[in-house]
Amino acid sequence: MDFIIEGPLRNQSSVCASILRELPDWFGIEQAIQDYQREIEALPTFLARSGGNVTGFLSLKQHNPFSAEIYVMGVRPEAQRGGIGQALVEAAESHARDLGVEYMQVKTLGPSRPDKGYAGTLAFYAAMGFRPLEEFPQIWGEHNPCLILVKSLSF
Ligand SMILES: CC(C)(COP(=O)(O)OP(=O)(O)OC[C@H]1O[C@@H](n2cnc3c(N)ncnc32)[C@H](O)[C@@H]1OP(=O)(O)O)[C@@H](O)C(=O)NCCC(=O)NCCS
Repeated sequence: MDFIIEGPLRNQSSVCASILRELPDWFGIEQAIQDYQREIEALPTFLARSGGNVTGFLSLKQHNPFSAEIYVMGVRPEAQRGGIGQALVEAAESHARDLGVEYMQVKTLGPSRPDKGYAGTLAFYAAMGFRPLEEFPQIWGEHNPCLILVKSLSF
C-alpha cells in the first residue's frame, strides 16, 4: 500500500480517535479514547495518508530538552504490517533529533500480563530498536503493568 507521512501537525484528534476506535483490543474503553483525544489535539502528530484516507498516526510528547515519548500511535487494522508504523516512528525520531532530543520512550502493557495483541506491539517496538527499561505496576495499576521502553536517538 502506498502512503505518505505528514507532520508534525496539531489539531488532528478527530481522525486519530477514529483510528483508536478501530483497535478495541488496545483501546476498548470509550472514556480512555476521549482522554487520548483531548491530549492528541495539542500534541505534534504525524499522519500516514493512503489516497485520501488517514491510515495511521503517531502523537509525540516532549517531556524535557533531552527526552520525548511516543505518546500514542495506531494503524488501521487493514493497513497493518505494511511499513506504516515504522515510517511514523522514523518521522517522529527524525523530528525529535532535530530538536536535540537524545532519548525516546514509549509505555506499553508489560509482559507480566501476557496478551496476544500487546505481544505484537512489543515485537514492533523491539523491531524499531526500543529496549525494555522497567515494568511499573504503580502507573496504570497492578492489573495493567506498565512497561517503559527506551531508545537512544544519539546513534
Ligand atoms: C503496533 C503498530 C503501530 C505497528 O504498525 P504497523 O504498520 O503494523 O507496523 P510495520 O508494518 O511498520 O512493522 C514494522 C516491523 O515491526 C515488526 N512487527 C510489527 N507488528 C508486529 C506483530 N504484530 N508481530 C510481530 N512483529 C511485528 C515486524 O518486524 C515488522 O516488519 P515486517 O512486517 O517486515 O516483519 C500497529 O500494529 C498497531 O496499530 N497496533 C495496535 C495499536 C498499538 O499497538 N499501538 C501502539 C501502542 S499505543
